[in-house]
Amino acid sequence: MAVAAKIQDAIERSSWIRKMFEEGARLKALHGPDKVYDFSLGNPDLEPPEKFRQVLGSVIAESPTGAHAYMPNAGYEETRAAVADYVSREQGVRVGSEHVVMTCGAAGALNCIFKALLDPGEEVIVSAPYFVEYGFYADNHGGQIRVVSTKDDFTLDLGAIEKAINSRTKVILINSPNNPSGQIYDRDSLKQLGDLLTASSKKMGRTLYLVSDEPYRKIVYDGFEVPSIFEAYPNSIVATSYSKDVSLPGERLGYLVVHPEADEVKGLMGGFVLANRILGFVNAPALMQRVVTHLQGACVDVGVYQARRDLFCQGLADAGYELVKPRGAFYLFPKSPVADDVSFVRLLQEENILVVPGSGFGSPGYFRIAYCVGKKTIESGMPGFARARKRALGE
Ligand SMILES: Cc1ncc(COP(=O)(O)O)c(C=O)c1O
Repeated sequence: MAVAAKIQDAIERSSWIRKMFEEGARLKALHGPDKVYDFSLGNPDLEPPEKFRQVLGSVIAESPTGAHAYMPNAGYEETRAAVADYVSREQGVRVGSEHVVMTCGAAGALNCIFKALLDPGEEVIVSAPYFVEYGFYADNHGGQIRVVSTKDDFTLDLGAIEKAINSRTKVILINSPNNPSGQIYDRDSLKQLGDLLTASSKKMGRTLYLVSDEPYRKIVYDGFEVPSIFEAYPNSIVATSYSKDVSLPGERLGYLVVHPEADEVKGLMGGFVLANRILGFVNAPALMQRVVTHLQGACVDVGVYQARRDLFCQGLADAGYELVKPRGAFYLFPKSPVADDVSFVRLLQEENILVVPGSGFGSPGYFRIAYCVGKKTIESGMPGFARARKRALGE
């Protein structure tokens, strides 16, 4: 076999993503794209804010000599300084440019973090439901994830995390607002998590790192805020990107920031910068770095996503679905009316509705809806959700 056995196995394990994609393409060709209600992808449909175009235009016009050359692996100093300034306000802890590495999206940031932190066999604790790529990212660097459950409303189960910590644990990874549940972890639970990690690190005589994957930080509703992890725990690292809040996923730009008081902070930064280089990213895209220098704090109109969330939540509740109202991100994670989420997702496909089974996020019995699609698609798809539920329950 040409492909390594491990990769073949990964292809097979994640084949439902491909199958969903293929099924979507087949249904669209058969019925026409406007008759297929595709809620399967977390690909933001809102255009980037107007300011992005303006800045892009002026940055291209002003391109200095060497604008397309290699640069330090951590990124442009000017960009890192702008990010440090912004993150200092966001996290309520003063960070400098020396704590920032510009990366190829949040995915690039997480891979640099795992590459630098994980020795073979070391573990990353994640709370289900979780973004499916985490398992692959940990494995890329010889590590593995250990999955723990959350509470019924998808908030952190600190008891489960405490139980899962063992001599191989190196990282606790959280994602808030969460993909796929839309849940936000509140200040109290983060403080308790920080206290737990301080106590566990002390007990084991080695540092546990808290990594917070926050690409949806600005996509929050009803006045909810995402609390600072830097205030909760000093051995913490933020990974994020401009993919979701500025709608730039194809541009592959993000960053990681290390808490300035983390143990061995200089060594950590050296590891992250080397990882950025040797993973083959070398540095984050130059043009986009020059653009985002002037875009700190920019965000699409979150009100558009909130209106869709409200429309969807109401429609699904009227149809009899059970779900926890998401506080952020652009996903819903309703309970499948029957325990077998994969078979229910197939029933929805018969209604030309594409969603992702919860099993793909470590939470069977649920399914994920991504509502980065127009209002009309949501409205037109709703009767199919109602019919599929009735059919599933034999009503
Ligand atoms: C929770 C989470 N983390 C990371 C990523 C990767 O983001 P990026 O495109 O910035 O690499 C995604 C993308 O969907 C995500 O949902």
